[in-house]
Amino acid sequence: MKVIVCKDYDDMSKKAADLVINNIKYKPQIKLGLATGSSPIGLYENLVKANDEGEISFRYAKSVNLDEYVGIDPDNEQSYNYFMRKNFFDHVSFNEGANIIPKASEVDEKYAKEYDKILDDFGQRDIQILGIGENGHIAFNEPGAMLSKRTSIVKLTESTIEANSRFFENESDVPRYAISMGMADIFNAKTIILLANGKKKHEAVKRLIEDKNISTDLPAGFLSLHPNVYIYVDEEAYRG
Ligand code: F6R
Repeated sequence: MKVIVCKDYDDMSKKAADLVINNIKYKPQIKLGLATGSSPIGLYENLVKANDEGEISFRYAKSVNLDEYVGIDPDNEQSYNYFMRKNFFDHVSFNEGANIIPKASEVDEKYAKEYDKILDDFGQRDIQILGIGENGHIAFNEPGAMLSKRTSIVKLTESTIEANSRFFENESDVPRYAISMGMADIFNAKTIILLANGKKKHEAVKRLIEDKNISTDLPAGFLSLHPNVYIYVDEEAYRG
């Protein structure tokens, strides 16, 4: 894992975006794995800027997303589908149908199987973007006795519900279930970029970088088994 300590959120977003931009220049038909949440917003802004300035184009690019809440309408402002359109897809030149986001109308593993099939057809991603939960989750692979290899319907932990409640009016409005890409599929990317900023991420980042062992109680820790991981972290997340 390469750890890149950045001054602040803007610096982190810019440096991570530069890596993505260089890859798109080299391979316009790039296959991207994308995340939602506050961590990658600045990175998306930089990609939109590079697209606006004609430095790169998303015309030949494709993407899959990590996760989505169960039972949420894609037009609901809290859905990850809406988030992606608002923060990224609507501002760049992707072709119609180039962006795939998982969906599950209810808690039923059939939706997970459908997404596995979609991921199999999509093939290996060139770059996977990740954030990290305060509890060390990646996508919605939460700490626990076991981690799912492939897509699954997951019950969110109290810690994640609380962290995500900042985007909702009340904590009780946060959906309790999500559909999430599993660990094996997250790993099926040539390069993984993990973004972490702010003091709240310090504990998870410290363990990710320093722990000698890997365990299912820090899902992000498994990234140390991947050959090409870049961790872009700001001073606050790095030093606490
Ligand atoms: C989002 C996702 C989550 C977030 C994580 C950090 O698609 O998969 O694992 O990356 O919860 O969220 P933020 O960036 O909001 O702190």
